[in-house]
Amino acid sequence: MADNVRFTLNDSQVEIVGIPPMTTLLDWLRDHRGLRGTKEGCAEGDCGACTVVLEREGRRDAVNSCIVLLGQLDGQSVRTVEGLRGVDGGPHPVQTAMAEADATQCGFCTPGFVMSAVAYASGGGTADPDAIHDALAGNLCRCTGYRPIVEAMTRIAGLAVEPPPAPLASPRTQSTTFEGVFFVPRSLEELLALRAAHPEARLLAGGTDLGLLASRERKPPEAVIHLLHVPELAAISATADKITIGAAATYTDAAPTLIEAFPALRPYLSRLGSRQIRNMGTIGGNIGTASPIGDMPSALLALEASLTLVSRRGARDVLLDDFFLDYRRTALAPDEIIQSLSMPRLWEGETFHCDKVSKRRDQDISTVAGAYRVRIRNGKIEDARLAFGGMAATPRRAPAAEAALLKDGFAAAIAAIGKDFKPLDDWRGSAAYRRQVAANLLRRLELRLAEPGRVLEVEAL
Ligand SMILES: Cc1cc2nc3c(=O)[nH]c(=O)nc-3n(C[C@H](O)[C@H](O)[C@H](O)COP(=O)(O)OP(=O)(O)OC[C@H]3O[C@@H](n4cnc5c(N)ncnc54)[C@H](O)[C@@H]3O)c2cc1C
Ligand code: FES
Ligand code: FES
Repeated sequence: MADNVRFTLNDSQVEIVGIPPMTTLLDWLRDHRGLRGTKEGCAEGDCGACTVVLEREGRRDAVNSCIVLLGQLDGQSVRTVEGLRGVDGGPHPVQTAMAEADATQCGFCTPGFVMSAVAYASGGGTADPDAIHDALAGNLCRCTGYRPIVEAMTRIAGLAVEPPPAPLASPRTQSTTFEGVFFVPRSLEELLALRAAHPEARLLAGGTDLGLLASRERKPPEAVIHLLHVPELAAISATADKITIGAAATYTDAAPTLIEAFPALRPYLSRLGSRQIRNMGTIGGNIGTASPIGDMPSALLALEASLTLVSRRGARDVLLDDFFLDYRRTALAPDEIIQSLSMPRLWEGETFHCDKVSKRRDQDISTVAGAYRVRIRNGKIEDARLAFGGMAATPRRAPAAEAALLKDGFAAAIAAIGKDFKPLDDWRGSAAYRRQVAANLLRRLELRLAEPGRVLEVEAL
């Protein structure tokens, strides 16, 4: 069924006619609606100047409008800085707090900070400095400095500045197509039929990788199949044995289940992109993009994850160990889609840790990522899965270090790690630096296991 994109913008219904569905929300707001309060800084999801709020039932999510495509908004509700009001029709309490705390100077970044703050405060955000840091990590200011902005956030924390958003009006239940190029299936069956009929179309989940083609590169994909409305790809479940995450579940939706099962993922996930990126991005997208420096593959390799891949020919399970074949080349067949990923829970005696080393603490992809699942019985390491990102053309386990660890302990594993990898050598880090980092991370793991609590898990590396 062909149709036009329809969504709610600042409480009014809008219908997109005659504008390509691959247009970014930011371009449409500024160039077609004349709403220039939302700014363009980097056009690649990094600076937060373009932040708007997606009002979903019962919650508000900050997102980067520069990497959201219009077609992704169908049936959604968007609020921009122009749509903020206080109860008396005056400034919104967040805007008042920003003004009173002198938290703005040139003002370029301010609408983005305000929208992140609105999402934070209306989600029950507190004055906890770490939580404020987390909420603002995706917004950059080059002149005011962050102290007064944090002060403004502290003032509004705990104020219920907004009632929860109402349920969205009459969401679509049938699949639809915008302009013949933006396909939105509503079931796995429809998705697989579209996949078979349109092999040229790119799969689009949150768009935090693919959206850059439209924003930074100005060369949007010609056709996409959007995955986020397929219930079978969004399901999350936890049984006594394993955790299963739908490939199109966002990080924000998957995080509680993942962290409950694997607590070391809490600080790790808080450093994956920003709040805005995690509100849109998916783990399926992180695996599908197959970057050697993606954060999730190393963690999932250590956790012994397997993927369920589906096509019209049927479903098959593939160990993540066997999925990454070469630089950005995977075992996914052209007609297949990643439906979900599963990993066994930690058994008695097992422990899981992970580290991310990047040039900046926030909003930066890894230079090296390390993850380790270790089983210890009677003080002896019985089994170990050590996996690294940024050390080769694909995220990979370290078989020589694993074998050396079991046989002769950490010193041997650290010595062996050089045999496992021929690391990347680029502006993020030389090969020698990366080799040294991987060795240091194993030493860190040794300290963690020897003296639990000695190694701080949240510190910046
Ligand atoms: C500012 C910024 C910061 C970032 N920081 C980080 C970071 O710290 N760490 C990190 O790892 N990444 C980071 N990223 C990259 C990105 O956010 C992640 O890779 C994210 O998980 C991608 O998910 P997505 O749903 O947005 O994928 P999309 O952009 O929708 O898709 C990415 C790729 O995967 C394919 N794909 C998506 N879903 C499926 C599926 N179910 N089956 C098969 N193929 C599929 C798509 O076709 C596409 O090729 C960052 C990106 C930005 C813009
Ligand atoms: S313009 Fe910088 S994040 Fe969108
Ligand atoms: S006030 Fe100028 S960039 Fe933040």
